[in-house]
Amino acid sequence: MNGVKTHYSLLIAGKRAESSSAGRTILDFFLQLLLISAVNFSFFYVEDQPVNIKALNGFKDILPGEVELWQRLEAVARDIFARFNFSEIRLPILEKTDLFARAIGEATDIVEKEMYTFVDKQVTMRPEATASLLRAYIEHGLHVQKPVQRLFTIGPMFRHERPQKGRLRQFHQMDVEVLGSISPRVDAEMMAMGAMLLNELGLSVSLELNSLGCPVCRPGFRASLLAFLDDRHEALCDDCKRRSATNPLRVLDCKKPRCREQVLEAPSLQDHLCADCADHFSGVQAGLDQLGVHYTLNKFMVRGLDYYTRTTFEFITGDLGAQAAVGAGGRYDGLVEQLGGPSVPGIGFALGMERLVLLLQQKEAEAPVSGTDFYVAGIGEQSSRHAFGLTHAMRASGMRVAMDLEGRSLKSQMKQAGKLGAAHVLILGENELAAGKAVLRNMVTQEQQEIVLQDEATTVQTLILQLKSS
Ligand code: HAM
Repeated sequence: MNGVKTHYSLLIAGKRAESSSAGRTILDFFLQLLLISAVNFSFFYVEDQPVNIKALNGFKDILPGEVELWQRLEAVARDIFARFNFSEIRLPILEKTDLFARAIGEATDIVEKEMYTFVDKQVTMRPEATASLLRAYIEHGLHVQKPVQRLFTIGPMFRHERPQKGRLRQFHQMDVEVLGSISPRVDAEMMAMGAMLLNELGLSVSLELNSLGCPVCRPGFRASLLAFLDDRHEALCDDCKRRSATNPLRVLDCKKPRCREQVLEAPSLQDHLCADCADHFSGVQAGLDQLGVHYTLNKFMVRGLDYYTRTTFEFITGDLGAQAAVGAGGRYDGLVEQLGGPSVPGIGFALGMERLVLLLQQKEAEAPVSGTDFYVAGIGEQSSRHAFGLTHAMRASGMRVAMDLEGRSLKSQMKQAGKLGAAHVLILGENELAAGKAVLRNMVTQEQQEIVLQDEATTVQTLILQLKSS
């Protein structure tokens, strides 16, 4: 086939009983063909029996009732990002695999085993946002427009990890990046912004801080860490034995108790920083102190992505079991250049939205229901017809209005209004309608009053006034 791979799809459809043997014969034929040729085949079986198709493991639907928490989370975040002068950027989900391999590092868990990659097309569904954001920054020359770019993006990421509480295969991040500033105040400002966001959501989360040094001081630290690990090699888990050779810093944050015990006395990068990194790190801490942001130093925090230099940090909760990090990030001063861009420093972090929503759910046992200003209850065909038009006019003027379109009884419509949390119910009975009136019930105070039904526009104005005064 001269190295050219052709892709065929075979669709075998039909009733199982009638066509299964025919289907099998065709299938056998194509399987034989597959064995003797270099042609790629995909087989799709579509049966017309009803089937129970569920979402993939680690992929989650976000249903009404929970989605309101997501909206609130996003609204608070967008407000805070705007206060800190960040602009939104929207990025594609699919990128060239090479981008992530280069940015995140080939010897990381993410690149080695967690990426959703279309091997034949050499593209990958983004496992994080930083690499994509930097690709866009370089591609569109955003450094020319502004010497310091402050950008944020919100959306889904994909990692093939083992799903558990707070860990999904499709998860969502709110990611912020500052490109073009080396100032330690920016590091402090980013952490202060994250802390402010979590605080305004009413979540109590702690901040852990470390410095990973730079290409000047890290090799010295790596050598002394390797010497330390050499003496303990046999006691380490298999992953860490392998990591000692490929990525020894990762041994420091292995979660297995026996490795944790082994590295307790490991050398600290904080003691090996060069003069510039040490200065920068004390500048970051001074900034945090000035802004009143509490933090603890954690010499074991090395992060799972290879691009970090100097400052790294994590927002940690004790309320989610093993998935303790609700957000994390750090500085990556060489990364833009490494990806073919200008020599521009950068720092950023990402918050995991699923984990924040879990914390919000734990805090407020019940998610708030969506707001409904009015429920319009029509009784009988004439009233329902009137209610239908009035509801539309109310919605057009900005009110959130629900009504029944199934001809249910007043009792069940009142029940529905209660479930929706409607602030008011407008009851249109046949007799009232004939008299040009309706009953307005305030669902909080349970008070009822009669209102006069005029033309639609005037009635809508009356209802708006009622809403404002309640
Ligand atoms: P990360 O630590 O890999 O960093 O992810 C950031 C946050 O995303 C985590 O703290 C966690 O809350 C959430 N997260 C990660 N994986 C999952 C998962 N499988 N399920 C649910 N939530 C998850 C980064 O992604 C970096 N790009 C952060 C960054 C931005 N550094 C600099 N700029």
